[in-house]
Amino acid sequence: MTLQVREMLPSEAHVVTSYFHNSTPEFLENMGVDPTRIPTIGIWQDRIAQQYALPPKSRAAVVVLWLMDDKPVGFSSCDKIVYGEHATMHLHVLQPERRQSGIGTPGVRQSAAIYFDMLKLKSLFCEPNAFNTAPNRTLQKAGFKYLKTHMTVPGLLNYHQAVTRWMVERPQMEGWKT
Ligand SMILES: CC(C)(COP(=O)(O)OP(=O)(O)OC[C@H]1O[C@@H](n2cnc3c(N)ncnc32)[C@H](O)[C@@H]1OP(=O)(O)O)[C@@H](O)C(=O)NCCC(=O)NCCS
Repeated sequence: MTLQVREMLPSEAHVVTSYFHNSTPEFLENMGVDPTRIPTIGIWQDRIAQQYALPPKSRAAVVVLWLMDDKPVGFSSCDKIVYGEHATMHLHVLQPERRQSGIGTPGVRQSAAIYFDMLKLKSLFCEPNAFNTAPNRTLQKAGFKYLKTHMTVPGLLNYHQAVTRWMVERPQMEGWKT
């Protein structure tokens, strides 16, 4: 089955909000997410809708869906955007039973290609929790380069934690086979 990756529609925002709101505290902890920082579904959907009203140059976030047979199996988001320069991506397979079956690697590559194109990026970063094996292995397999491990609050939903910083630049990304 082929993985398709495309920008999420505003009407599909529930895929993202339900994923976080239905996650257990243990799962969120593993991803470095502080449950108290997750917005309510209504506020979050409003924020996503506001982003879609903006041109790419002004966007604070972009979300892409990963689909098989036209059904969402995962998603990636991108934030900390400096248009024309760099941004930071995130990666998620929705169902636990679908993880480690080869979705994440093409999902990351195809999502990165969309972000580079839409946001005219020179480089793309990802900063997963250092103890969260799955994204760290997947980013390495996809072709990201390891830069460093450091302590930070990596995003709006996160607590202070050790993260690994990965990066890919445009020439490397353009050489990927998706
Ligand atoms: C991170 C995630 C998107 C990766 O997607 P995936 O479909 O599981 O990844 P793949 O199947 O393409 O695996 C890529 C590589 O990582 C390895 N890997 C993935 N999960 C792993 C795990 N839990 N433990 C060890 N290795 C793992 C795979 O074995 C594969 O390497 P290999 O081919 O050399 O064996 C997915 O596991 C996920 O959604 N995890 C929960 C959410 C999460 O932690 N997101 C990160 C937030 S920053």
